[in-house]
Amino acid sequence: MKVLVLGSGGREHALVWKLAQSPHIAQMWCAPGNAGISEERLAKNGSLVECVNISAEDLPKLLAFAQEKQIDFTVVGPDGSLALGVVDLFQKNGLRIWGPTQKAAQFEASKVYSQDFMERHGIPTARSEIFADAAAARNFATTLDGRCAVKADGLALGKGVLICQNVEEANKAIDEILISKAFGNAGARIVIQEFLEGMEISLHALCDGKTAKLFPTSQDHKRALDGDLGLNTGGMGTYSPAPFLTDAELADVGAKILNPWLKGCAADGIDFRGLLYPGVMLTKDGPKVIEFNARFGDPETQVYLTRLENDLVELLSASVDGTLGNMELRWSRTASVCVVMASGGYPGSYAKGKPISGLAEAGALPNTKIFHAGTAKAGDQIVTNGGRVLGVTAWAETLSSARDAAYQAVERIHFEGAHYRHDIAAKALS
Ligand code: AMP
Ligand code: GLY
Repeated sequence: MKVLVLGSGGREHALVWKLAQSPHIAQMWCAPGNAGISEERLAKNGSLVECVNISAEDLPKLLAFAQEKQIDFTVVGPDGSLALGVVDLFQKNGLRIWGPTQKAAQFEASKVYSQDFMERHGIPTARSEIFADAAAARNFATTLDGRCAVKADGLALGKGVLICQNVEEANKAIDEILISKAFGNAGARIVIQEFLEGMEISLHALCDGKTAKLFPTSQDHKRALDGDLGLNTGGMGTYSPAPFLTDAELADVGAKILNPWLKGCAADGIDFRGLLYPGVMLTKDGPKVIEFNARFGDPETQVYLTRLENDLVELLSASVDGTLGNMELRWSRTASVCVVMASGGYPGSYAKGKPISGLAEAGALPNTKIFHAGTAKAGDQIVTNGGRVLGVTAWAETLSSARDAAYQAVERIHFEGAHYRHDIAAKALS
């Protein structure tokens, strides 16, 4: 089988690494990929994965490439490609591709759509309202004493959610999005949710239009600095499992969210074949969904795929074919921890092109995998090329040994300005 993966981050490196282990795959490309991806070899024949210099959002070029190489199966990593309709385009041209269609990807591309869907179909979520008018929005925020999350409707590079603790902050957030148009058209409408307190976890479920198979729990660390301080980022580290739910509780939480979601999809004519990633707050009144994503999480994927025992191409094929009901997801008993090493300045502005040392030494440690995110090759050196640079991942019998192993690998890797959190998985271990 010839496979093409779209995207260039740590999530895509993890997808490529796991897919490369499948005996079904004889050739693999990644567009555009990164330095780590271009060093992966296929288990079937030892051939290297090839990175092609096409943006994951350049749909016409991707289609032409897939047709020229006669790709059998394409796997989509990022939300941007899904929102542009890459799945619809490939399907229209008779190509097999994994991921939700543009209509189904609205769960992530439009927070207004998602919020309205949750309310219509009885999915537990935050108390909320939708606005296009700033005065009405301010009134609602005042009824919440300004303790709320103000969210731009559309995709805003992960920056469209403003957390407010008083009326002044809420009014400022509303004006920024609806009046000053800080996120352009993505902020033509907003969702205001009450501020929820509790432990936040990531859920993932693989879906085939009828069935949703829930993954184990994981937890991301969204703030840049230790102790959940600093700015919001794409995610500074993850671990799985997160011990805040027993298996039975997880199944119950899953059922409370996924059953009404599946029924809602059927009622609304949405055929979702892909990965549903609900962000969930475990509040004292029960679990509540704060958002849906329509793709694998980054860096959740790094910990999930180091625990998954199934052949990934078989699972994703079943997701496309509507045959997931016959499959059982199998997870190793080990725990997995991913520590993100980021460029100095991230999530603000940062320099690129800093040489990275220690990768081979760290990667040679047992039960350790260094997933690349923002890296590139410069001659025979690997250099930084993005905000999140590496996802240093390790797995072990216990969460604390997995955590120690991940940090031992981190300590062997150096680049100018590197920063990372020192407290990944600490909440679970305290
Ligand atoms: P979202 O992109 O909607 O997940 O929001 C980004 C982050 O903001 C989440 O990961 C939460 O940490 C936080 N957040 C979003 N909505 C709420 C809410 N209703 N209450 C408290 N925190 C929230
Ligand atoms: N881990 C956060 C995200 O993928 O959106």
